Amino acid sequence: MSQLDYILNLLSDGQFHSGEKIGNMLGVTRSAVWQTLKRLLDPNLELQAIRKRGYRIPGGLELLNEEAIRLQLGDQQKNLAHLELLQIIDSTNTYLLTKKNLPSGYTVFAEQQTAGRGRFGRTWVSPFGRNLHLSMAWNFPGGATTLSGLSLVAGIAVINALESYGLTGINLKWPNDIVYHQRKLGGILVEVTGDAAGPCQAIIGIGINVQAPQTLNTAINQSWIDVRTIKHHRPERNKLAGLILKELLTVLPEFQQKGLQAFRPYWQPLDSLAGQPVTVQTSQGPIEGTADGIDQVGNLRVIINGETQIFNSGEVSVRRI
Ligand code: BTN
Repeated sequence: MSQLDYILNLLSDGQFHSGEKIGNMLGVTRSAVWQTLKRLLDPNLELQAIRKRGYRIPGGLELLNEEAIRLQLGDQQKNLAHLELLQIIDSTNTYLLTKKNLPSGYTVFAEQQTAGRGRFGRTWVSPFGRNLHLSMAWNFPGGATTLSGLSLVAGIAVINALESYGLTGINLKWPNDIVYHQRKLGGILVEVTGDAAGPCQAIIGIGINVQAPQTLNTAINQSWIDVRTIKHHRPERNKLAGLILKELLTVLPEFQQKGLQAFRPYWQPLDSLAGQPVTVQTSQGPIEGTADGIDQVGNLRVIINGETQIFNSGEVSVRRI
């Protein structure tokens, strides 16, 4: 266990711990303790350093724990090729993209991302120890064309997990936003490397707001919500992490075999845009119409002046009328 791990475990109880005591336990000076903790001076962690009392993380933390995550997997243990829990990384997607020859089911979680990435080149704000940030690798020997709809299916897996966790009323906003009454609860970023026709690998990155600190308000410029606000009590991060893994490990082999077709019936009732007046941002400018579900390959169908048009990318918003 690293010094940082040790200190974090102590502080996860939400109580004050003096720098001197921590130093004595680790056999280092008080200032060495401070040097280690400085790495965590993320305003979102709300780490307090108070003279004469010591350090404290108000409300405590539920740190990621391999055993607690695996506890949720049941039969799906077998499909989890590897589980890595990191503390601080630039981005879990970037981390997996730099590794070679990953087996399907290789997964990494991080307590914090310093350069978390969202769709359209946006930043994904990822404070320490509060939310979930994970990426899983999956290989598709049949090439990138067999992947259409993968991010939609990952979204269905996340919803299944949130439902088994006890949340209701969560929907998907095409292609892969996880929303609660139009407020963003999570997002998915799928990145593919390899060949269009030959073997390729998808990195499926998922971010869920679990117990986001209020300071996040200033960092995110869209309406968001977290699990805690929906469920009104202290979220169990490891349980939710395990349930998400379990669902991913269940749907991905099926998707690989059967494609999006097998999942379209599940998408429909979760589709928050269906029948809504929407604006799609395209390279030619905004286009207005009525959302009409997805086609066989996961494109968005929009009825514009009585005609159905298909969109395979672009940002969609619901119009107020
Ligand atoms: C979006 O809605 O724009 C997608 C957000 C995806 C965020 C996750 S967090 C884990 C993984 N690592 C990243 O850098 N991004 C994804």
